Amino acid sequence: MIGLTGRKKKRRDGATTDVALRCIGVSKSFGETVAVQDFDIEVRRGQILALVGPSGCGKTTVLRMIAGLEAIDTGRIEIGGKLVASDGRHIGPDRRSVGIVFQDYALFPHMTVQANIGYGLGRKGRAERVEEVLALVGLEGLGRRLPNELSGGQQQRVALARTLASRPDVLLLDEPFSNLDAGLRERVRAEVREILKAAGTTTVFVTHDQQEALFMGDLVGVQVRGRIEQVDVPERVFHRPATSVVARFMGTADFLPVDTIDTRLVTEAGPARAVPGFEPPEEGPLEVMARPDDFVLAPSEEGQGVVVDRVFQGWAYTYEVELNSGLRIHCQMPHLLTIEVGVRVLVNLRRDHPQMFFSNGSAVPEVPRYGYLSDRPATGSPGEAPGGAV
Ligand SMILES: Nc1ncnc2c1ncn2[C@@H]1O[C@H](COP(=O)(O)OP(=O)(O)O)[C@@H](O)[C@H]1O
Ligand SMILES: [Mg+2]
Repeated sequence: MIGLTGRKKKRRDGATTDVALRCIGVSKSFGETVAVQDFDIEVRRGQILALVGPSGCGKTTVLRMIAGLEAIDTGRIEIGGKLVASDGRHIGPDRRSVGIVFQDYALFPHMTVQANIGYGLGRKGRAERVEEVLALVGLEGLGRRLPNELSGGQQQRVALARTLASRPDVLLLDEPFSNLDAGLRERVRAEVREILKAAGTTTVFVTHDQQEALFMGDLVGVQVRGRIEQVDVPERVFHRPATSVVARFMGTADFLPVDTIDTRLVTEAGPARAVPGFEPPEEGPLEVMARPDDFVLAPSEEGQGVVVDRVFQGWAYTYEVELNSGLRIHCQMPHLLTIEVGVRVLVNLRRDHPQMFFSNGSAVPEVPRYGYLSDRPATGSPGEAPGGAV
């Protein structure tokens, strides 16, 4: 368990009201398989948490436990300040005010859009609420259509409307865009984000797609092998990863060994730059992390690398360069410069911003895994977005 238990005590005086969802030390095994382990998270009202991780890391299991579809082994889950799951306590899904949209959002094919949306609602006020959520998701006038008379993106919005109709305190979305093709996906995710923000719905959004997580989340939680590796605002998860696992998962990252010579930090790709006051660890290896845009590349007979592969991405090329040591790194350069495979190049780390350093897989200096908690004022006001400064 990391971080959250300490805060809980401080907030017991009633200041918990702005927290819509809290999981503390939640674990779940299926037989020998540990699906979720020591899972801690805190989501405030109106926030979108994007939970991202490789397939099989336990994302769906987390959602199912929050929804009450799966019992937890250990830990506790609170929704809107109310304990819904703990050792010996399990409040059923119908009493949790949680809405869940699964991957294959399965609309009833023989029922109209409005019947689909109104399905779980009581008779009183149903028609008005259906009209309201149809407007919210931008499908006014399409209520009488059948699902197969709608595009994939529209069907997705109907599924969302159906879940929002009952005004859940917490909305759970499990890879909701994975059935849409690439172009549509980008548009639909922007629409869905707008809808969620307009409705002020607290959301846990699950995806295995890093770009989608960075786009959708007010907070991004990186889950690996059942655990949260880091959760923070998107900018920090990307630029200030707490561990090399997060760094690699969020995008291409190369790690170059660093020699400390006097106060200089020297790598095979030239000097690295640290933030002022940086102290290398007393012992243990030191590495610098570089993203493809952290390198500058130029053809040179005196260079320390050779281009071994090249990927054209339209606006840029990503070159794979083998350094003299045998280490392979990835360098992105504007398409104006075209270097052929086999050409010797000089590679340098960019000097215009400080880099991240790691020792034995952890950032140096240490980056808090729950960095967003420290952004909060002691008496947080509801709905306030966490600071995004990096
Ligand atoms: N009902 C179940 N019975 C047995 N194993 C399960 C069950 N549900 C999930 N698992 C296992 O738990 C792990 C996490 O699964 P899941 O939560 O579906 O991951 P994700 O959604 O991140 O792909 C996987 O190893 C999966 O095989
Ligand atoms: Mg899943």
